[in-house]
Amino acid sequence: MFDQFKEQIASQVSALSGVPTTTVEPAIDLAKNTTYGDLALVVPQLRIRGNPVQIAKDLAERFKVDSAITGVVATGPYLNFRISRTTLTRSVLRAVLDNGSKYGWTNDGRGKRVIVEFSSPNIAKPFHAGHLRSTIIGNFIYKLHKAHGWDAISMNYLGDWGKQYGLLAVGFERLGSEEKLVADPIAHLFEIYVAINAAAEEDTSIHDEARAYFKRMEDGDESALSLWRRFRELSIGKYKETYARLGINFDVYSGESQVGDGIARAMQLLEEANLVEDGDGAKFIDLKAHKLEKAVLQKKDGTSLYLTRDIGAAIERYETYNFDKIIYVVASQQDLHLKQLFKIIKLLDLPYADRFHHINYGLVKGMSTRKGTAVFLDDMLQESKEKMHEVMRSNEQKYQDVVNPDQIADILGISAIVIQDMAARRIKDYDFDWGRILNFEGDTGPYLQYAHARLCSLERKAHVKLNPDADVSLLTEDVAHEIVILISRYPDVLAAAIKTLEPCNIVQYILKLSHAISSAWETLKVRDEAEDLAEARLLLYVCARTVLGNALTLLGLVPVERM
Ligand code: ARG
Repeated sequence: MFDQFKEQIASQVSALSGVPTTTVEPAIDLAKNTTYGDLALVVPQLRIRGNPVQIAKDLAERFKVDSAITGVVATGPYLNFRISRTTLTRSVLRAVLDNGSKYGWTNDGRGKRVIVEFSSPNIAKPFHAGHLRSTIIGNFIYKLHKAHGWDAISMNYLGDWGKQYGLLAVGFERLGSEEKLVADPIAHLFEIYVAINAAAEEDTSIHDEARAYFKRMEDGDESALSLWRRFRELSIGKYKETYARLGINFDVYSGESQVGDGIARAMQLLEEANLVEDGDGAKFIDLKAHKLEKAVLQKKDGTSLYLTRDIGAAIERYETYNFDKIIYVVASQQDLHLKQLFKIIKLLDLPYADRFHHINYGLVKGMSTRKGTAVFLDDMLQESKEKMHEVMRSNEQKYQDVVNPDQIADILGISAIVIQDMAARRIKDYDFDWGRILNFEGDTGPYLQYAHARLCSLERKAHVKLNPDADVSLLTEDVAHEIVILISRYPDVLAAAIKTLEPCNIVQYILKLSHAISSAWETLKVRDEAEDLAEARLLLYVCARTVLGNALTLLGLVPVERM
């Protein structure tokens, strides 16, 4: 959107200096500090002989301003250009109207495929805060890649294999109820899992039974597999309901159980590369030279491990999807595991070894529901929703206008959880605090949703219609200009986010935008204003609402129109 201005500046500077426009243009950027101008040119980057400060001064004197580029000043080795507010405003708002929900998107990833693996809970175990973080951060990363034109695949790699599922099956045979399993598979399987673990503490022979059961599973014994398969399918069915509530859909439900002969082939390759050591019947790989400890690859009884399954899965994923990039969204507690995995892939000299990325995140402390400490996602969402509903009810008058309070409460509850999670850099640990996240006035999800709903209400109530050709020269106030500048920066925010994969980049941005909008309410009224002024302001608000809504959607939220 600034391109036209950059081009215009570049062509004149090029004419004045003899430096080709292809060198001048990249030297121009948005000014970090807008005291002296909106765009800044870094003179040393022009590579002209002589003192850059003097050259900047000289160019400033000779540069001819016009109605679009209205001012130029030299500060040290920089040239600062002022852009006409009206011209800028017109082109920024036009870009938003033209692109709508795709404003700021790029085609940078065209023709490239990325797999984003996220959420990946373990069947029969709690879906804890770590999984929740993976789920929402991963969904954001997935959507962000789509916004940049990537062919993105969302993948859920379930923890659904290993001795503990042998233990679960043994538990189910003793304590399971078919009825309960169908009614609420996740709760019932967890219940059994806890009970059988406790029983196995007393009677260690249960562990032997579990190992034997899992061995049968690994050997493909159908009688052992069929029960496990039901656990898996019923659990996925339930997960899907909860993911739908979060607006998430997985392209692929994979899982540790789904890894095939990739494991054997990987073991073969590792053996051939002389990387495997035997010890006590088990197999190891020594990664101490890489400061990554020693890792077990195969147990005594020949069964595989978490790490081995990941190696096999990596190879099979490449064979199936031919990805250009793969991102594992997994808690920082598993840093070592993923480093080992990626190192092993490197050691195998696979040609795609540099396509693997681990996106990690810190711990959430103190996340629990009224019922207790073992947290299930559904309970979490339910509690947030109920709390939100209480807050909504406290404003009786407004509450009556909300057509679907139950649904809105659900969305607000989710927004509260998601925004507090994404407010800081991923790697930071944080303490979970209901009071902080549900506040309508702090920097929270409900606050952002409120800003959006308020803009929607303004649009509904306006006495003028949206006019794309409204006279934006009437937007003379600084608050209006500030909103325009913020809107103009959204494409840069998206471009930066695909590099950092930090949702906080987006959250911080929309908080700023929402603050700017809030402080404009009093000054930039639409109601009762003359038609041309009302139209100009409405246009600005509609564009602000579009960007805010787009950003909320990118974060995985549904922007609400009333609340
Ligand atoms: N299921 C694992 C857990 O809950 C996370 C899986 C992460 N992904 C992977 N490819 N290892 O800890």
